[in-house]
Amino acid sequence: MGDRGSPRRDTLLGELRRRTKIFEGESELSERTPTGIKGFDEMIQGGLLRGETYIVTGISGAGKSIFSLEFLYRGASQFDEPGLYVTFEETMQSLLRNGKNFGWNLSELIRQKKLLIADFTLMTVGDRALSLNPEAFNLDGLYVTLEAAVRELGIKRVVLDSVSVLFLQYPNTGVIRRELNIISSMLRKNKCTSIFVTETGNDPNSITRFGVEEYLANGVIVLYWEAEGDKRNRYIEVFKMRGTAHYMGRRRLSITNDGISVIY
Ligand SMILES: Nc1ncnc2c1ncn2[C@@H]1O[C@H](COP(=O)(O)OP(=O)(O)OP(=O)(O)O)[C@@H](O)[C@H]1O
Ligand SMILES: [Mg+2]
Repeated sequence: MGDRGSPRRDTLLGELRRRTKIFEGESELSERTPTGIKGFDEMIQGGLLRGETYIVTGISGAGKSIFSLEFLYRGASQFDEPGLYVTFEETMQSLLRNGKNFGWNLSELIRQKKLLIADFTLMTVGDRALSLNPEAFNLDGLYVTLEAAVRELGIKRVVLDSVSVLFLQYPNTGVIRRELNIISSMLRKNKCTSIFVTETGNDPNSITRFGVEEYLANGVIVLYWEAEGDKRNRYIEVFKMRGTAHYMGRRRLSITNDGISVIY
């Protein structure tokens, strides 16, 4: 009784509060956000860890851009998480057309400011960008764009498609890695869950061409297809996902008029 208000009691209470805070912080850190991609969240304990950066990688045509676009579409339309798609290769028109084929009204989400597409494909031929224009584009500009979007527009999901372009266009890969790391930290601080798309060569085991994932990604998701007889089957595999008991091994993936889904 005589202990009430004593310095020892205050210290203990202070310590308790501090520890509780750390505990609350930890539970916040393990909060998950569902991607909304059919069959995928079940592979990864219900969703991605909020605020973490993930690599989606794979061969050309494997479905990386559609996977990333659906992550943003589901976030904006079902989970009240506005998204930003930064595209370096495929034009905004092409992304919008893809969305339309899947029955997603992306233009309406853009109008409602639930979706933003930043088109960094400065030199385009038809639907395909040939290259970035290094004169007009710089990594600082990318950081500023992202930070403004996250802070001022409440963006909660970000896609960079693809960061491989940066490595191909700029000679100093060390600088690009460092910049991507800084961007990833900023996104984490703002609890913004992000996908950095990269490319693999034809060997899906090589993961990424530039080793970006070793530096910053919480998880690596690999998409690919294989010819089996006269058919090509699509696959998805989670190579790594920190803090998550994920399915080990490949699962079949399908792209239909409803979007992308893990089928079995
Ligand atoms: N509406 C659709 N229905 C079924 N399949 C589709 C549809 N739209 C696109 N696809 C398939 O998805 C593929 C393209 O997927 P996506 O653009 O996501 O690939 P990617 O991995 O981003 O390729 P890249 O590395 O070339 O950018 C097409 O080649 C096609 O096989
Ligand atoms: Mg793509």
